[in-house]
Amino acid sequence: MSDLVNRPFPAGFLWGTATAAHQVEGDNRNNQWWAWEQTPGHIYQNQRSGLACNWWAPGGAEADFDRAQALGQNAHRLSVEWSRLEPSEGVFDAAAFRRYRGMLSALRDRGLTPMVTLHHFTNPLWFEAQGAWLNPRSVGLFQRFVERVAGELGDLVGLWCTINEPNIHAALSYLLGEHPPGLHSIVAPFRVMRNLLLAHAAAYRAIHRLDGRAQVGLVLHFRPFVPATASARLDQWAAAVQNYLFSDCLLVAVGDGVLRPPLGYGQTVGSLIDSSDFIGVNFYTRELMRFDLRAAGNLFGRRFFAPSGETSDVTRSGLPYSECVPDSLEELLLRLATMGKPIFITECGLPDADDDQRPRFLITHLAAVQRAIQAGAPVKGFFHWTLVDNFEWAEGWQLRFGLIELDPATQARRVRASAQTYADICRANAITPAVVQRDAPEVLKQAFSGS
Ligand code: BGC
Repeated sequence: MSDLVNRPFPAGFLWGTATAAHQVEGDNRNNQWWAWEQTPGHIYQNQRSGLACNWWAPGGAEADFDRAQALGQNAHRLSVEWSRLEPSEGVFDAAAFRRYRGMLSALRDRGLTPMVTLHHFTNPLWFEAQGAWLNPRSVGLFQRFVERVAGELGDLVGLWCTINEPNIHAALSYLLGEHPPGLHSIVAPFRVMRNLLLAHAAAYRAIHRLDGRAQVGLVLHFRPFVPATASARLDQWAAAVQNYLFSDCLLVAVGDGVLRPPLGYGQTVGSLIDSSDFIGVNFYTRELMRFDLRAAGNLFGRRFFAPSGETSDVTRSGLPYSECVPDSLEELLLRLATMGKPIFITECGLPDADDDQRPRFLITHLAAVQRAIQAGAPVKGFFHWTLVDNFEWAEGWQLRFGLIELDPATQARRVRASAQTYADICRANAITPAVVQRDAPEVLKQAFSGS
């Protein structure tokens, strides 16, 4: 840490926060998530997205963009809601396009570079009714949507994320049953991942046909699985299998275009070859992996956080959401650097309602990013999850990831101390000694004592 303090991040580094339409806009009644929320038992304490952060209301998003600007940020990642833009199959809504044009212009007017995600967990009801991503037609339907969006909004956007976390969407919706449609299948998740990957490739090509200079990338959730005992062969095997099935099979496919098992039988898909201009990295934590014969349902791997590790707030399961492991982020970035593509950290954060960990989390994770950059990783930006507390899917309003606290009932906001930590780093384009001294002096002490 001592050698990183005050060292600038690369010129033009993007400093932002990330959001997703359904989590912030409010009143998104025409997608599968709104429907899912209406059934008791699906969401923590039967909470609902409701008005969320009220971004769809005139001036709603803009007021939070003012806050992001005042906090020294120069970028923002948001998603567009398919069910608003194409409320019925093949029917597009001009007013919804105008609203997004307004939001994107508002970002640009404030000096915030927009990064736009085209799919972030939500599907229009008409699309869901056709089997969503299990339906082979899904790829073409998504492509038509993307062509329309890129045509109507492309003049305002240079950075596109095609699909947010195909791996998490497949796992939570089709394997673990926690997100709609609530399936518990071992076959469906891989069919979904494959169609999402093909949809990514179709979107990549469609955007590039319209704008050769756009940067378009896939966003994956990386959750490195690490052998619980480094030297134990079976732990190594269990970790390797899950790293491959969870993220690496997708990562490799957007490079060489080959659909290997479990995505396919080794066939090459032309549109998929070299189809990500950057790697979008969503990173929250890693997990230790222990080989365990009793864990057949989890491919003989038992996952857990290090018992001595620092963990974040607990989920509705009673277990912590994540373990804070900045070194794991550094290792991941160094590994991804070997792919030779620019990297954006498209999400990174933690649930921490009382904000007693977030300032240190930001400092240690950004120091990890800085170390990776110094070692050659081409990281171009960092988008903290998130700006304002928002609707956290099945966790409802329980988990608080925001730099700004929100009372969803009154829409009152209160800026957390960590927002200042992040603002100072964004403005300086560096982790300054003053910030570390003020917000995480223990980190400096450790650094200088060489531990
Ligand atoms: C998702 C976000 C979510 C965040 C925190 C990510 O996997 O992309 O939508 O809010 O994790 O759980």
